[in-house]
Amino acid sequence: MKSLENGLSRREFLSNTSKASFAVGLVGTGILSACSGDAKGDGKAILATSFTQTPLAYDFSALEPNIDSLTMEIHYTKHAAGYAKNLSEAVGEESVDTNKPLEDVLAGISKYSTKMRNNAGGHYNHELFWKIMSPQGGGMPEGALAEAINSSFGSYDAFVEQFETAAKTRFGSGWAWLVVGEDKKLAVGSTPNQDNPLMDISDFKGIPLMGIDVWEHAYYLNYQNRRPEYISAFWNVLDWGIISQRYSQAV
Ligand SMILES: [Fe+2]
Repeated sequence: MKSLENGLSRREFLSNTSKASFAVGLVGTGILSACSGDAKGDGKAILATSFTQTPLAYDFSALEPNIDSLTMEIHYTKHAAGYAKNLSEAVGEESVDTNKPLEDVLAGISKYSTKMRNNAGGHYNHELFWKIMSPQGGGMPEGALAEAINSSFGSYDAFVEQFETAAKTRFGSGWAWLVVGEDKKLAVGSTPNQDNPLMDISDFKGIPLMGIDVWEHAYYLNYQNRRPEYISAFWNVLDWGIISQRYSQAV
């Protein structure tokens, strides 16, 4: 395979990554090497993340009043951009093959530096965060994802309660997640700092379908200390279509 020059071409290549090969990637085998010669060409690379920041698909103000414009601008252009920049340095210092998806690094993060852990996690988490939100968000999950939520949590309301509890009770900075676990069931949990459930060092593991950033930088300008209000508003901007696609790919 010739070398790939940017995130788009990498994503195009990854569009041939099969569901099965991604699952293999999660348990430590390289995603790309696992899929070579085994591509199903399903046209979706939704679970693969590049090492560079993806342009935001909507305006900074598009998620108002749920998330304010200045918070979005600072969050994307300062915080998230910082993780991407520091990740770029770390991959150079630690000779990471950036032709592979970022998920490969996360699955073996124990082999890398703290700088890699913080910034690979920070970059992955924010790339996911921007993608699972939309100005047309809100509503309820449908189809197979709705059925999985009901079977895993009992009801949608029970899931919401568990997720909100995970987000509210994450002490200090971190993230709360909805994941597909190794048993293919859905689970809710949280991770500290910029860790995430793909990391081999994480106590809570799975393939993230969606996550909420509960660092104060994600909400403090608008909500100050009222983290629960920010968490409640998050449902209004959640793109269940994207999350359903992630679920389909993950299982
Ligand atoms: Fe953040």
